[in-house]
Amino acid sequence: MGYNLLKGKKGIIFGALDENSIAWKTAERVHEEGGTFVLTNAPIAMRMGTLNNLAEKTGSEIIPADATSIEDLENLVDKAQEILGGKIDFVLHSIGMSVNVRKGRHYTDQNYAWTEKGWDVSAVSFHKTMQTLYKKDAMNEWGSIVGLTYMAAQRVFPDYNDMADNKAFLESIARSFGYHFGKEKNVRVNTISQSPTPTTAGQGVKGFDGFIAFAEKMSPLGNATADDCANYTVTLFSDLTKRVTMQNLYNDGGFSNTGVSNEVMDAFVRDQE
Ligand code: NAI
Repeated sequence: MGYNLLKGKKGIIFGALDENSIAWKTAERVHEEGGTFVLTNAPIAMRMGTLNNLAEKTGSEIIPADATSIEDLENLVDKAQEILGGKIDFVLHSIGMSVNVRKGRHYTDQNYAWTEKGWDVSAVSFHKTMQTLYKKDAMNEWGSIVGLTYMAAQRVFPDYNDMADNKAFLESIARSFGYHFGKEKNVRVNTISQSPTPTTAGQGVKGFDGFIAFAEKMSPLGNATADDCANYTVTLFSDLTKRVTMQNLYNDGGFSNTGVSNEVMDAFVRDQE
């Protein structure tokens, strides 16, 4: 159901790979709420993806951009404004990738060239995106920028590997850039810390099935789905959250504030018997 929360607003959505992607669900919800946008992803992802279907469904154009390339980002921001007919109101950064995770390298045995690639894609790309928007003065006043993160930035989940460090970096960039974007342009910047979600990036983490089942049992409201994340993002893009900024916001069914749940305790006690 739509509430027209984003009527007249224009944006850029990064990171829709397939219909499981959090960015895909977000694009669908933003469209339902009356927002218009361009879709973008890395050129290589578009060759294997099905982004055209989403573009057709939402009446959007696609502009390929590697989010680690300033040249690509400059082209994206210029073209997005041409296509949408003005400055940008909302941006979703929904990008994450660790080469160490992909290639099964343990946290204590990192290949540092891969580590650098991972933080460039997963964290510094957020800075590069915002710096490009900032320098080009491409954001409208009271615009909203959202990045997606995971609680491994605060607490250890051993198999999350160097993505934990990348997420800590991402969250810090959101705070730091949020200050400057707020001061200069009245633009807000937040990260949403999302429950484990069955997507391509999520399922790349070793032991993901255990991860998601544990979180489900720990969270009083159960895991937040990709659709829940899309809904939350819509509120952050809307004018209802104008002075929420520089925050890391948990969309996790209560997981982050739960020490232990009865269900998890029961399973543990059964194990001991
Ligand atoms: P996904 O695999 O559908 O999306 C990741 C996207 O990053 C893909 O579209 C991929 O093409 C894009 N990407 C990778 N390298 C890129 C580059 N150089 N330039 C531009 N785009 C690039 O997976 P998902 O889960 O929807 O991921 C979205 C965000 O949500 C990520 O930041 C992820 O870390 C975060 N997140 C995911 C959780 C999960 O359990 N799935 C939990 C918490 C956060």
